[in-house]
Amino acid sequence: MSKIGVFDSGYGGLTVLRSLVKELPEYDYIYLGDNARSPYGGRSFETVFEYTKQAVIWFFEHHQVDLVIIACNTASAKALRQIQQTVLPDVFPNKRVLGVIRPTTETLGEFSNNGVVGVLGTEGTIKSDSYIIELNKFFPGLVVYQEPCPLWVHLVENNVIDTPGSEFFIEYHVNKILSHSNKIDTLLLACTHYPLLENSIKKIIPDGVKIISQGPIVAKSLRDYLQRHPEIKQNLSEQSMREFFTTDYYADFDSIGSRFFGEEIKSKRITL
Ligand code: DGL
Repeated sequence: MSKIGVFDSGYGGLTVLRSLVKELPEYDYIYLGDNARSPYGGRSFETVFEYTKQAVIWFFEHHQVDLVIIACNTASAKALRQIQQTVLPDVFPNKRVLGVIRPTTETLGEFSNNGVVGVLGTEGTIKSDSYIIELNKFFPGLVVYQEPCPLWVHLVENNVIDTPGSEFFIEYHVNKILSHSNKIDTLLLACTHYPLLENSIKKIIPDGVKIISQGPIVAKSLRDYLQRHPEIKQNLSEQSMREFFTTDYYADFDSIGSRFFGEEIKSKRITL
């Protein structure tokens, strides 16, 4: 029987895991945060691919895992396709790796009445243009504006969200993206840290602009995926177990990570 692996550069994927556990509580999940090498947001394609590949292989070689969700936008943008095309077919033909960009872009257009959306993410995610490319496939007429918010991950991790300094930087990027068009009616939080900023963003956006977090979308999409792939679903163990691993100090991971996951966690340290 196999567990579901969930990978992120650090803490952020815990916001996605939180939604997975809510939608599909019966399954067993193993979470790995590569905290020792995060953030991935400003790193090159080659580096993000190499780090993410090592993590995926760790799940496959050290645990009973047949399915890994890359719950990190930057890694989904910069490593997922290459892993699916070059690592899986040769070495792990029966394993599957999924990301967060595809399920999000499959539905994002449905939230917008005006057909104009904004995407907020890390520098790596935005510069990869993955959201523009994927949204074009599913919603060809959709107008998409993007904004990198390089400081936001640090504001969230340092737990200084409600300070005047943070409010300045949150407002700075929100105003910048909204300045492109007053028709933007949907803002996507395309980074796993940003759901923790949702309340702060809500305070400064005009009425009628929706904020979309990915967790619930990814969770629903996983449910659909398992329905379509009984060969994977039937092998998943169902004991509602959650295990947490980090590549850095586990004490920090437990205290900071609990804020992201919404309940207490106990992790173990590993090296990749
Ligand atoms: N988890 C990353 C993402 O969703 C944000 C943190 C990082 O830059 O590593 O893009």
